[in-house]
Order: sequence, then structure tokens, then C-alpha cells
Amino acid sequence: MSTEDFTVTPWSVEGDIDYDKLIQKFGTEKISEQVLSRVEKITGELHPMLKLGYFFSHRDFDKILTEYERGNKFYLYTGRGPSGSIHMGHLLPWIFTKYLQEKFDVNLIFQITDDEKFLYNDDRTLQDVSKYTTENICDIIAVGFDPKKTKILIDTKDIKRIYPISLEIAKRITFSTVKAVFGFQNSTNIGMVGFPPIQAAPCFLPSVIEGRPTPVLIPAAIDQDPYWRVTRDIAEKIGFPKPTQIHSKFLPGLGMQGKMSSSIPETAIFTTDTEEAIDKKISNTFTGGQPTVDLQRKLGANFNICPVFWYLRYFFDTEKESDERARKCRAGELLCGECKCNLKDATKPFIADFKKKREKAKNEIDKFMFD
Ligand code: TYM
Repeated sequence: MSTEDFTVTPWSVEGDIDYDKLIQKFGTEKISEQVLSRVEKITGELHPMLKLGYFFSHRDFDKILTEYERGNKFYLYTGRGPSGSIHMGHLLPWIFTKYLQEKFDVNLIFQITDDEKFLYNDDRTLQDVSKYTTENICDIIAVGFDPKKTKILIDTKDIKRIYPISLEIAKRITFSTVKAVFGFQNSTNIGMVGFPPIQAAPCFLPSVIEGRPTPVLIPAAIDQDPYWRVTRDIAEKIGFPKPTQIHSKFLPGLGMQGKMSSSIPETAIFTTDTEEAIDKKISNTFTGGQPTVDLQRKLGANFNICPVFWYLRYFFDTEKESDERARKCRAGELLCGECKCNLKDATKPFIADFKKKREKAKNEIDKFMFD
């Protein structure tokens, strides 16, 4: 989807995103207070990403809750396109997915679209993608998913599991639909044009595994929604339940505007970054501050456009601490240097701990693979 001010597609997120407008354009629903209180009742606690509105939109999440309340469990499905190292933006939906897995006690299918990432970029070789596939899987495992309830599906290796389903899907989606939904051009290679059914297929894999219609909930940032739109349109025609979604916003890059992205590495914090790199990137971050200390004390700053504020809010501050930070920032009682120091002090141990889990994960890969 593209408007004058911003673009959100599975391959590009740019500009100053208006999430309310996006809900309208994509035709999704805002997560209501009522839905939140139902989740709280089932799980006993509301995850901060729900409470703070980081996960803000959905398609039929309420129906998943109704089925769950009736005793019908769903599967979770999410994924990764292995085009580079993992950054903190990727971790947010995965940390949330882990919370859902734990609280609802459900299975998860995690797709690695190595085919997509090979096809998308003219210069990328299958070997490049394969290297990131292995590395990214370590990050995924390091998030802490339950090995007994999680299966990682690598497209090029596990294609036999999804190929028959993807054929059923492909047969029912026309070229003009994918052109309109994904913006494919005459110059787009036909591998990309034929790829959407491959990402759609795991939506129905749980029904095949369980041998009965099994609902699926997809937690991901809203950039992936175009896939689900076309999949939902054909689901019932081929005898499967429509996949449901819960959508997050984007963690901004340290340069603000658009999302944190591996393709602008100086504005992304990777799980493999050294302490020096983290220090440097945070020091160079664009903030919502004034040009001088005097002006900042006098006029206050704008936390709304400041990535440092949002990183602290979504990853490290409590809600109360974050609200107080916002107040002090607006009132000119807080200088950007202080927030940057807070973020460095919180990020460095977080990444150091994650790196240890990542190392350990190298020996656990087999537990998560399909046979
Ligand atoms: P990929 O690898 O681009 O992104 C992986 C996941 O991270 C989310 N994401 C972000 N979330 C918050 N802030 C950001 N800055 C940010 N950047 C990326 C994405 O929404 C995604 O959830 N084609 C997909 C892989 C895939 C998939 C799926 C994703 C296959 N099946 C099912 C979600 C659900 C891709 O390349 O994602």
C-alpha cells in the first residue's frame, strides 16, 4: 500500500506511517479494549506489547479467542526471510509469539523463506541465503520457543510438506490479483510472482497435520498482511479455515522514519553487534531533541519522533517509567544524552545475554526441524 506520505509492503516500509490510515487501507480491525480484556482473562496478564498498543490491529483474533474458550486450540504461524542478520525489530514479534505460545500452550510453525530472499535480490546467491538461514535459526531458537511445540520449516528443504497445499492455493489466485496486491510489474521475475502461495501454505499446514480444520493465528508486523489478504480470500474454497492475524507496528530505525531494516545497518542494532558498535549507533541516533541544551530546557523535546524513547518503551522501561520519561522529555527536564545512556546501558547486557543463548542454540537446531 502506498499513500503520498508512506509505503508499507512486505519488501519496503518507508515514511511517517499513519497506523490508523493503514487499518483503513488494509481493511483490518483495531484491537479493542474488549478484546484486550478477553486476552487478559485467559492469560492472566496482558503483555506490555498489547497494553502499549504495539500490537494494534487484527483480523479475526476475537474468533480465535472464542474458539479457544470453547476448548479448540489454534496453531501459531510466523516466519523470517533470511536476508541478513537479525535486528531488534525482528525480535519484537518473536518475543510476543513466545508469550502467546506459553500462555495459550499452543504449537508454532516458523517458516524460513530462503526461496523468497534468493528470488528477491538479483545479486544474492543460494549460498548467501543458506548462511543466513542457519544463523537466523540460532536467533529464533534463542528467543526461547518450546522445542516440543515448535517446528521450523525451511522452504528449500521442507518443500514437500507445503507443495501440495501451495498448488491448491496457486490454482485459485490470478496474476492480476497478485499484481494488484503485491505491486508486481512485467519486469518482476516469475519466481517472485509465483512465491505468495509458498508463504500462504503454512496457514493450512496445521489442518493437514491434525487431520481436521485447525485455526491459525499469525503474529507479525503489518508489512506481511498482503499475503494474508489473498490467502483468506481462497481459504474456504479449498476447505480450510481463514487464517487470522494480529499485527504489530514497526520498531523504527535509529535514523527514524520507516522500519528498522538490515539494509541500513548503521541504523539497526543486530543481535551480533559488539558493545562498541552498539555505543556508536546509539550515540549517532537521530532523536526528537532541540538543537541546543538551552532550547531543550526551554521548549522541551518531542519523544513521539524519537527512536531512543520507543526502544526504551518497548524493550526496557516499565510503562510507568516510560510515561514519566515522556513527561520529563516534553517538559525539557531530560536531555537526549541521558536517554541515550539509558538505552546503551540496557541494550548492551540484553545483547550480551542474547548472544549466549544464540551460542547455546547452535547445538539445539535439530530439535526444531521437521524430520
Ligand atoms: P522478514 O524477515 O522481513 O521479517 C521477519 C518478521 O519481523 C517483522 N519485522 C519487524 N517488526 C517490527 N519492526 C521492524 N522494524 C521489523 N522488520 C521486520 C516482520 O513483520 C516479520 O514478522 N516473508 C517474510 C517471512 C515469513 C513470515 C511468515 C513473516 C514467512 N512466513 C509468516 C511473518 C509471518 C519475511 O521476509 O519477513
